[in-house]
Amino acid sequence: MPNTVQIVVDGKTLTYPLVEGTEGERGVDISKLRAESGLITLDQGYGNTGSCQSAITYIDGDKGILRYRGIPIEEFGKNADFIEVSWLLIFGRLPKKDELLRFRSRLTANAHLHEAMKHTFEGFPITAPPMAITSAMINTLGCFHPEFFSLKDEEVLEEAAARLISKIRTIAAFTYRRVNGLPYVYANPKLRYCANLLHMMFSMPYDDLVVDQEIETAMNLIFILHADHEQNCSTSTVRMVGSSKANLFASCAAGVCALWGPLHGGANVEVLEMLEQIHSGGLTAEKYIEIAKQKASGVRLMGFGHRVYKNYDPRAKMLQSVCEKLLKKLKVKDPLLDIARKLEELALKDQYFIDRKLYPNVDFYSGIIMRAIGIPTNMFTVMFAIGRLPGWIAHWKEQHDDPTSKIARPRQIYVGPVNKHYVPTEQR
Ligand code: ACO
Repeated sequence: MPNTVQIVVDGKTLTYPLVEGTEGERGVDISKLRAESGLITLDQGYGNTGSCQSAITYIDGDKGILRYRGIPIEEFGKNADFIEVSWLLIFGRLPKKDELLRFRSRLTANAHLHEAMKHTFEGFPITAPPMAITSAMINTLGCFHPEFFSLKDEEVLEEAAARLISKIRTIAAFTYRRVNGLPYVYANPKLRYCANLLHMMFSMPYDDLVVDQEIETAMNLIFILHADHEQNCSTSTVRMVGSSKANLFASCAAGVCALWGPLHGGANVEVLEMLEQIHSGGLTAEKYIEIAKQKASGVRLMGFGHRVYKNYDPRAKMLQSVCEKLLKKLKVKDPLLDIARKLEELALKDQYFIDRKLYPNVDFYSGIIMRAIGIPTNMFTVMFAIGRLPGWIAHWKEQHDDPTSKIARPRQIYVGPVNKHYVPTEQR
């Protein structure tokens, strides 16, 4: 039968529909498999499991393709800004002029946090990990806006999205100020999204930071390039939590927690740690590359290679040129950046990396750019969360709008003890 897959179980042939995406990706719909055969599928890490059908982002890792709502990521490189890309991801098309203006006004109007939230920041020790504060504060934000716990229509969703996208920036800046014992600086409505973030992070009450255009451009691009990457760990978490009809704030707070892990959002931190290790350990870039090529060393060249991209990560390509321009413009003298440049140069012409299709990934350059801007390493993943938030909102909305969506409830193969008995304490 065309467009079906047959599975033989205990001699019985079962037929399941093939589902084909708009880019020709194919999957087998096995939702009736258990009912018809008693079998479930086992796929640890869900590496081969499609959890939904989605129209938001398309990735072809072999060809190095990434598209948001059908538009190649490269086309956002020149003129697009993070706010219009956010709207595109959430609502499925590029906003018209008046729609973009309205969304921007909503962001500006929502930049401030409720003053009571300042006390919540004060409750954290200054040693608190910034991602813990960020996640907790997004959930706290929900408490101040319970009217958004149920989102009746797109108008209300747009307002909720604007609040979250605007306020996560203030939360990030206040988190930085809190862990550094600095006075909070309020948003300036005259500044654009990225400049306002840097203003709240680095201005002083008596001295306003003037943000260099090149820096604003680099931050804007970092956010755009992180805005969505289909069913990654944090996005799947947002969908998993949202599938129980948990509200948008709670679902995104959970996304921050998933992103916190070193295997996900923490990779650009590891790039910087590697550079520091090389520097303080007196190693040369050449020596480190040699060590990274020896499997037994257990050392890898951080920021190189990708699970999905077996070609140049298109995001890394775009960040590379911005990174070069920025470093030139800022005339930064930083031994770590010199080491990074050397590592990149050596690895790109080394046969080991060429044969294994190991190219710089987005984390390699984003870490270097953020360091050059002056963002401390412990805030890198928070910056990633700001960038990824529109993607989380888009996925939460897509699932929320889908009448066929169900609560996520995977199954398991039980491998524990079989039918034991309770033993009272004195008899154990
Ligand atoms: N340095 C040195 N060797 C590497 C590296 C690296 N960064 N990455 C992979 N290899 C080698 C492996 O040792 C293996 O060699 P072999 O064929 O001789 O056994 C081969 O390349 C394939 O490696 P896998 O681990 O199978 O590749 P996979 O695609 O599963 O891994 C991963 C991708 C985990 C990202 C890996 O490349 C890596 O560890 N990179 C460094 C960490 C990093 O930068 N992570 C961020 C990823 S981007 C993101 O998450 C947003």
